[in-house]
Amino acid sequence: MDNGIVRIGRLELRVMDLEQSVNYYTEVIGLEEMGRDAERVYLKAWDEFDHHSIVLQQADSPGMDHVAFKVKDVHALEKLEKKIETFGCTLTRVSRGTRLAEGEAVRFELPTGHFVELYTEIELVGTKTGNLNPAPWPDNLRGIAPHRLDHALLTGNDLETATRFFTEVLGFKQTEQILTVDGEVMIGSFLSTTNKAHDLAFVKGPDKKFHHAGFYVDNWYEVLKAADILSKNKVTVEVTPTRHGITRGQTIYFYDPSGNRNEAFASGYLSYCDFPTITWTEDQIGTGIFYHRRELIESFTKALT
Ligand SMILES: [Fe+2]
Repeated sequence: MDNGIVRIGRLELRVMDLEQSVNYYTEVIGLEEMGRDAERVYLKAWDEFDHHSIVLQQADSPGMDHVAFKVKDVHALEKLEKKIETFGCTLTRVSRGTRLAEGEAVRFELPTGHFVELYTEIELVGTKTGNLNPAPWPDNLRGIAPHRLDHALLTGNDLETATRFFTEVLGFKQTEQILTVDGEVMIGSFLSTTNKAHDLAFVKGPDKKFHHAGFYVDNWYEVLKAADILSKNKVTVEVTPTRHGITRGQTIYFYDPSGNRNEAFASGYLSYCDFPTITWTEDQIGTGIFYHRRELIESFTKALT
């Protein structure tokens, strides 16, 4: 993509018991704790080379503080800032030193009420396998041990405007959409700024709400193994391993100790910049989301943080 947005860089999640959450994200998910400040704990997956991708913030209620995307350089960020302001969003600056290992970021509110940040600078810490003749994976991995934070899914009321913002202003492509049968209303939107099936997605629902964070694992067996690890640790599994019609990914859904939904996600197709948008109709939404079961479960649309 030529928009200069490299990838999803981080999610800051609100959690209600910081120590219990850190224990879950390190021992069960298998992220590495990278540092702490007064209010937050910073974590990364083993295959990520920037300082952190998940920030846990002590709070009174669960949910997402913000999702951030890394931009390739200051020049690209300035161009994006102008376009965001022209669209009508107000930008604020998050100064260097607000959070650990991060440079300055710009922050704005989406039409769906979620906060997004764009940034160019974060401390490069590398991986345990290194950059010289690396082994395929490091020793002593714990838990599910995903490669990376893959994507996030949010809910919002006006998905047409949210999609227009991400495609026309930020330069994402829409890989898939779910429309009502009459084609009039968008009830799902899957957006990519890379060659992944999605970096960020929306389903129709209340504004400002968080649906899930997706962590990438290699394949179907790793999704099955994630289920074993979750059950061994008595974590509530919402949806046992299955396939998505949308993205064609393999998936399992479960909850962190505060009720924030997590996903271990594998595979999914690649999308190039000329990828033609796939459309699902609302009458097939069950198949689109859970390809085998072919119907939604109530918690999947109701349990939001
Ligand atoms: Fe997902």
